Amino acid sequence: MTVNLAIIGAGGMGRAYIKAFKQMPEANVIAVVDVDEKRAREVAKEYGVPEYYSDWRKVVKKDGIDAVAVCTPVKFHKEITVGALNSGKHVMCEKPPAMNAVEAEEMARAAKENNRILMYGFQWRFMEKSRYIRKLVQEGFFGHIYRARIHYLRQFGIPLGADGWFRTRSLAGGGVLIDCGVHLIDLTYWLTGRPKPILAFGKQYDYIGRRFTNFDVEDTYIGLVLFENGMSMVVEASWAQNWHNEHGINIYGTLAGASIYPQVEIVKKIGDVYTTIKPEIKEAEAGHLKLKHFIEAIGKGYRDISPTPEDGVVVMKILDALYRASEEGKVIEIT
Ligand SMILES: NC(=O)c1ccc[n+]([C@@H]2O[C@H](COP(=O)([O-])OP(=O)(O)OC[C@H]3O[C@@H](n4cnc5c(N)ncnc54)[C@H](O)[C@@H]3O)[C@@H](O)[C@H]2O)c1
Repeated sequence: MTVNLAIIGAGGMGRAYIKAFKQMPEANVIAVVDVDEKRAREVAKEYGVPEYYSDWRKVVKKDGIDAVAVCTPVKFHKEITVGALNSGKHVMCEKPPAMNAVEAEEMARAAKENNRILMYGFQWRFMEKSRYIRKLVQEGFFGHIYRARIHYLRQFGIPLGADGWFRTRSLAGGGVLIDCGVHLIDLTYWLTGRPKPILAFGKQYDYIGRRFTNFDVEDTYIGLVLFENGMSMVVEASWAQNWHNEHGINIYGTLAGASIYPQVEIVKKIGDVYTTIKPEIKEAEAGHLKLKHFIEAIGKGYRDISPTPEDGVVVMKILDALYRASEEGKVIEIT
């Protein structure tokens, strides 16, 4: 089966999608869309995509297109995704799912009502190391995972995007938390077996970002999320800090602990000895695997690794609660 696709948003991610789909015999990109028609035309020409458009509404109604990929600024994710689902198309929507959980719920409803696949661009799940740890979690290797610590802290790396949308709350929904933190939150949520989040607290900062013009989002977020099964998750995300890059994802279980990123390392007490295991995992291109999985899901349905519409709702609820906690200066219940 060949899946005919339209790519909506011809910026950095839209181009990466076209390149990846071109390597898959089961995918066929037949249209590219961008509000900037010149960009759509240039990208179509560069990658040999037969059709280009400036209005996504026309494209989602077209016969002969089975699925669309949404690679626009976050503000447009919901409108385009729901429009495409209601026109009977499957949708691969980039991360973060939406501006907030209310939008993600509407997207999930549209996917269900139209019986179409909707997936989100959470490619960190598709790293070989993530799959490896997920399998160990499922086998009970770590026991009860009662704590997670995730940090993604860049010394400097504030994205811009077309017309600076990444730095504009009304277009991006927020700053580093919704842009980068969302990947780590999603990964940890999935790795640890999708526990239900119940409480969130945290604080956002913009001391470095505010030095730039047209910047109204956070450059740093520090938070804590609690889950119904007792697990706590410390979240630290930064686009800019007066310190080196610091990245890590750790899970702590009653039987063993692991670091998943940047390198996989496992610590388990064997007898009286804390033993460190450093598995040699060969990485493949996670972004490519994510798209391949989407194409497969159109025929076969969701699997455990799939970033589903429901996962999108939960992740957005966590983000909403963290942002509210910072704004209101109190612990927020997640319902
Ligand atoms: N998975 C990842 O690791 C990852 C990495 C980067 C970006 N992203 C996500 O991908 C999406 C796009 O980011 P990007 O870096 O490609 O941004 P970008 O600014 O490079 O490209 C966005 C494109 O969308 C176009 N656009 C804006 N509104 C549109 C509309 N209504 N209809 C059609 N086109 C429209 C813009 O003209 C621009 O060409 C975002 O959701 C972003 O968060 C994901």
